[in-house]
Amino acid sequence: MEVIVQRDYAEMSKVAAQIVAELLNTKPNAVLGMATGSTPLGLYQELVRLHNKEQLDFSRVTTFNLDEYVGLPMSHPQSYHYFMHEHFFQHVNIPPHNINIPSGTTSNYSAFCEWYERRIGETGGIDLQILGIGTDGHIAFNEPTSSLSSRTRLKTLSKQTIDDNARFFERREDVPVYAITMGVGTILNARKLVLVASGKSKAKAIAQAVEGPVTSMVTASALQLHRDAIVIVDEEAASGLTMREYYDFIYAAKPAAPRA
Ligand code: GLP
Repeated sequence: MEVIVQRDYAEMSKVAAQIVAELLNTKPNAVLGMATGSTPLGLYQELVRLHNKEQLDFSRVTTFNLDEYVGLPMSHPQSYHYFMHEHFFQHVNIPPHNINIPSGTTSNYSAFCEWYERRIGETGGIDLQILGIGTDGHIAFNEPTSSLSSRTRLKTLSKQTIDDNARFFERREDVPVYAITMGVGTILNARKLVLVASGKSKAKAIAQAVEGPVTSMVTASALQLHRDAIVIVDEEAASGLTMREYYDFIYAAKPAAPRA
């Protein structure tokens, strides 16, 4: 795992966007895995800027979102469909038929989940998956005790996640209790993983995910099993890491390091 510590949220977002842009420049028809939450907003803004100012082209890109709340229609301002269109899709040139987001309103969840997995496979698999992290260490909505080989499925949200996400809803009771989410196994199948985290509230989860044991209690720790996972954090989110100097040393020496 590569750990990149940046000064602040803006720098973290830029470094992450640069990795996505490099992929699109070498593989214009890349398959991107998208994440929601407030953390990737800066990364999306930077990609939109690169699209507008530096002609970063998304016309051949396909996307798959990680998750969606069950029961929220696409038009609900807190649905992940709405979020993605609002903050990213309407600002770039991804063909609408190339955009895939789990349905929170399907009449048959197990059939939908199987279809979603199949559809990812048909496109050749996800080249780069963007990830955030929950304060309980989850990736997507893979709550503690999720199987590390899980696939796309329905998931019950933890109390901590419901509490965390209540800030986006009028009342805590309005937060959906269920979500449809890619599994940890689905995520690990992506060829590259880029996890972004910012702020003090993420420091413990990041320390556990990066330096703790691989455990289903912290599903982000499964990134340790991936051959190409990059964790990009700001100073505050990095504050619980014990190997910080080593990460900085590797990052600073990277341009001169022997090529793999
Ligand atoms: C939700 C999403 C996750 C996201 C997490 C953290 O639970 N399902 O994909 O990583 O929120 O969100 P934020 O970036 O707002 O802290």
